[in-house]
Amino acid sequence: MVASCIANLPSLSSSELPTSHRSAHEYHNFARPIVELPYTDWQFAAPDNSDLTDRLERGQVLCFPQLAFTLSEQEQALLGPELVGPKRKNISFNIDRDRINGVADPTNEAAVRALLKRYYQHTRNLVETLLPENRGKLLEPVNSLRVHEISQWQGKSSWRKDDIRLHVDAFPSRPIHGQRIIRVFHNINPHGTLRVWRVGEPFERLAERLLPRIKPYSSLSSSLQAALKITKSKRSHYDHLILGLHDAMKADTDYQANGQQWQLDFHPGTTWMAFSDQTPHAAMSGQYMLEQTFLLDVASQKNSELSPLRVLERLTGRALL
Ligand SMILES: [Fe+2]
Repeated sequence: MVASCIANLPSLSSSELPTSHRSAHEYHNFARPIVELPYTDWQFAAPDNSDLTDRLERGQVLCFPQLAFTLSEQEQALLGPELVGPKRKNISFNIDRDRINGVADPTNEAAVRALLKRYYQHTRNLVETLLPENRGKLLEPVNSLRVHEISQWQGKSSWRKDDIRLHVDAFPSRPIHGQRIIRVFHNINPHGTLRVWRVGEPFERLAERLLPRIKPYSSLSSSLQAALKITKSKRSHYDHLILGLHDAMKADTDYQANGQQWQLDFHPGTTWMAFSDQTPHAAMSGQYMLEQTFLLDVASQKNSELSPLRVLERLTGRALL
């Protein structure tokens, strides 16, 4: 049987459908938060008139249960929690700077670097195929190799860093001024262990509910944080709000337990991708994963009105940059 990414996807009752006209277009097609695609080869051509860009930009997860990223025997032999330095969550690789961090034993560095470089090349090609408007415009590529069992690592985290809680991604110390965060994941577990996620409701509906809980933006305090090097540049109003949403979601225990959500199961050999600044997600369990991050400009999106920046500007009635 071919592995599927879909664990339990109850259909929505009519009372759960959005009532506001504003969010109706975003909700369209969200009765299922995931789209499964049958590709087995990383070099596939997206079908003509594909709506895959629209689906991604609406916040759906694209899942490729048969798109395997194969590790050599030597690479597989490297996998183990001891590959990463003590106290580090992941091994990370900055492609533009060719800089790798977190490999415990320097003699393993070349092999891990080659693996992460290859993953970057595969995922860049995938994103450029699926988002042709962004060809040549994928910014600041960084990827990571995650070798810890999620439950063991998360036990050590504060609630803000606890990714078992549903959240949208936001960078506390690195303002990105409205740029999009797209991430491509691959389960490389050699023992058959699933990576289990939850995903939540569409961004606009969530933001509408949570925005009133976020304290007002202060340009002065954002300037101070930048001057004190707490942040790498000045946090914009947008950065303040997206971080506020991230925190408000994680702090809300009722939302975590009872908010609208679906469970997704990713088998080893599965690739999946999403705009992680838009799609509420939580990593519940699993071990050994590859993750590639790209930033994208809102201007290079096909449906820029669906981006968190434009949605938050619409909801607050003001420019946020
Ligand atoms: Fe996340």
